[in-house]
Amino acid sequence: SVVILDYGSQYTQLIARRVREAGVYSEILTCEATPEEIKAREPQAIILSGGPASVTAEDAPGLYREILDWGLPVLGICYGMQLLAHNLGGRVTASEDREYGRADLDLTGQCALWDGLEGKANHVVWMSHGDHVEEIPEGFSVVACTPSVPVAAMADPERRIYCLQFHPEVAHTDDGSLILSNFLFKVAGLKPSWTMSSFVESTVLEMRESIGEDEQVVCGLSGGIDSTVVALLLHKAIGKRLTCIFVDNGLLRLNEGEEVIGYLREHFDLNLVWVQAQDEFLDKLKGVDDPEKKRKIIGHTFIEVFDREAAKIKNVKYLAQGTLYPDVIESISFKGGPSVVIKSHHNVGGLPEKMNLSLVEPLRELFKDEVRRVAMELGLPDSIIWRHPFPGPGLAIRVIGEITAERLDILRKADKIVQNELHAADWYRKVWQGFAVLLPLKTVGVMGDGRTYEHVIALRVVDSIDAMTADWTRLPSELLARMSNRIINEVKGVNRVVFDISSKPPGTIEWE
Ligand code: XMP
Repeated sequence: SVVILDYGSQYTQLIARRVREAGVYSEILTCEATPEEIKAREPQAIILSGGPASVTAEDAPGLYREILDWGLPVLGICYGMQLLAHNLGGRVTASEDREYGRADLDLTGQCALWDGLEGKANHVVWMSHGDHVEEIPEGFSVVACTPSVPVAAMADPERRIYCLQFHPEVAHTDDGSLILSNFLFKVAGLKPSWTMSSFVESTVLEMRESIGEDEQVVCGLSGGIDSTVVALLLHKAIGKRLTCIFVDNGLLRLNEGEEVIGYLREHFDLNLVWVQAQDEFLDKLKGVDDPEKKRKIIGHTFIEVFDREAAKIKNVKYLAQGTLYPDVIESISFKGGPSVVIKSHHNVGGLPEKMNLSLVEPLRELFKDEVRRVAMELGLPDSIIWRHPFPGPGLAIRVIGEITAERLDILRKADKIVQNELHAADWYRKVWQGFAVLLPLKTVGVMGDGRTYEHVIALRVVDSIDAMTADWTRLPSELLARMSNRIINEVKGVNRVVFDISSKPPGTIEWE
């Protein structure tokens, strides 16, 4: 594997993903990891990420020099390059101005990283740095420059240490993936062996061995891709000793329960319990309009219902959960902030402690795009693989104000039209999330000869890469018109539709 030491760059996860896309398993460790911790991963190459600090500062995160004595190939990117230069006897100069954005790279020297780039006239690369290397350490040669940076890349092929001032991991850098591949295959001599079919095979084997012959595993199905993939992997590993519990909380989209359960029942011989808990949830939510209270009630009720069902199964020892890699990467924090925000797993939090179960988390090593590829490997349909993220509390936080069966029903019908129209116009896959929200007010309208006084639906459709930031999608006005006409004509009780044009921040994706 490749170990990536994280110095706090916002792009560290991208490096890991690019390396994996090239077929090599990679892991992120904080830059504070000790040589023993790094060695335990049995790395075949090491990459030092970028980061917001300056190596010239006193409290700058450093490097255990002994790592360089292991003789492994090392790639330093941005801060990683400056750190290597600084440690190996070169000189790094701090500058007041940061250079951001596009730069034209001139390949000035022979370098294994440039294999396949030689014939090209222009190399656009992405820069984001303040400091730069002024004097290179002994043994290195300069292999690229840009108009403003005399040492944009340097290499010591003998020690297999390579350094880039620009970011090969970002999409804006031409041939960035090729440069990284050259490091992995030409310099480090690695072989591409990280594929999703090998992941499925080894994960299934591992789980089969570690779970034991008689133990039972329980898993919550939500209808989303993560829990479905977890269930299918476990099903492959232990068959019917897995029980999946699908809690229908009455807050799902139209026919969602039927679709998900129907599909799984038809294609896989799963042990599947479909709990009809709609009334229980609605009852507890009666009269509640505070969004955080809604979330708490739904979370607690879920645990109660799930616990009750799971207690009916004998010998349950494990709870399977769809935790993903970004949730487990340890983040570092120093001046400039951590690069990785750890998100809590809000949907099933609290379950394992309460039930005294051990966790099985087969997706702990994967990024979301890899989960999608595993899902393809398992033969899941596009409708599950590309389903928009859906919040755990479901439509409860999209019915603004009090939740009643009637208001849920209105929202469900309107939302179905939004989903249908996004699909029909080929926009569904282009957007991050698209949905309807029912507002807690009524407005005046006119229908036929009479005045009406009815509900307002807001449309929320956003573009995003990770839900941390988002912008409203510039949908064609004809598409918006179709959604609006259909909702007003087909959904009884709605006479007005508005489109949300706020970005995140300062807005959020959901309205509650
Ligand atoms: P916001 O509204 O914070 O949403 O911009 C960011 C992403 O998180 C989802 N979301 C939730 N997911 N439980 C969840 O499982 C929640 O309570 C919750 N609130 C928001 C939201 O749909 C978006 O994808």
